[in-house]
Amino acid sequence: MSEIERAADVLRAGGLVIFPTETVYGVGCDATNAEAVARLYAAKGRPHFNPLIAHVPDLAAAECEARLHPKARALAERFWPGPLSIVAPRRAESTVAELACAGLTTIALRAPSHSTARALLKAFGKPIAAPSANRSGRVSATTAAHAAEDIGASVGAMLDAGPSPIGLESTIVSVDDNGAATLLRVGAITRDEVEAVTGSLSLARGSIEAPGMLASHYAPRARLRLDTGAPRVGEAYLAFGSQAPAGGLTLSASGDLVEAAANLYAHLRALDATGAEVIAVAPIPARGLGEAIRDRLARAAAPRT
Ligand code: TXA
Ligand code: MG
Repeated sequence: MSEIERAADVLRAGGLVIFPTETVYGVGCDATNAEAVARLYAAKGRPHFNPLIAHVPDLAAAECEARLHPKARALAERFWPGPLSIVAPRRAESTVAELACAGLTTIALRAPSHSTARALLKAFGKPIAAPSANRSGRVSATTAAHAAEDIGASVGAMLDAGPSPIGLESTIVSVDDNGAATLLRVGAITRDEVEAVTGSLSLARGSIEAPGMLASHYAPRARLRLDTGAPRVGEAYLAFGSQAPAGGLTLSASGDLVEAAANLYAHLRALDATGAEVIAVAPIPARGLGEAIRDRLARAAAPRT
């Protein structure tokens, strides 16, 4: 039996599977099995009011779960399979467990492009509920080893396909029955790219509609000091656009934001592991993927609750 088939069997039995996506690693379960979803929340240490993304193979599968306004459909046609999650009104016929949607009247759906994720969805044949494969509130896992470190003890199978190609979570956009589009989380797809499809796009910053929007989230143990040109004595340094000084790491020596996004979480974990109390971070430009990188850094730096 292939590794994929074995992982699909774990899902069928109500177990948890760590699997790669193009954004970050996910820890998935059968989205239609409420007991499996409850096990997943427990493994994550996630507050129950935080809803999960249901992963589906394509637009047709998404239409079975949600009412998609033409604007939502246009987003799916433009960006799926890929790093976009669409929040839309949930259909009464949806097979996804209510617990996965945390009792909301909406559901988040995403068709990932990663070949391993797609193979798993195909082998399983039902939606897979999957948050990022980290303990709640911690930096997302971008390697199988990091996922295993955080929640490996709770899973029945793990699919390792090397480092996540993008390294930042999906962009989340909600589209209601009237076609009103709201950006809930900036991510791999930029605001401009979304807006080019939806036309008007409101920003939901500061709301807790999506927990990825909680002020303190994606946090390492160390405190972060942002937009700093150089580290102080004793601080670890996360550089950008140059080589890092000894003991530091650079997100991208050449100033490439795509490379920086892919390195962000692994570098934060590595600098955290040095035991430094403070990680000083170089200024990151706010253009393109820089907006999402700055968003995650700001949340990682926010006072812990
Ligand atoms: O890239 C990704 O999106 C990764 C990979 C594994 O697909 N997943 C991920 O899941 O980042 P998670 O659970 O860490 O973040 C999902 C976000 C949460 O902030 C959650 O609140 C939001 O999606 N969300 C889910 N359902 C929602 C809904 N009905 N309304 C608003 N926000 C929702
Ligand atoms: Mg997460």
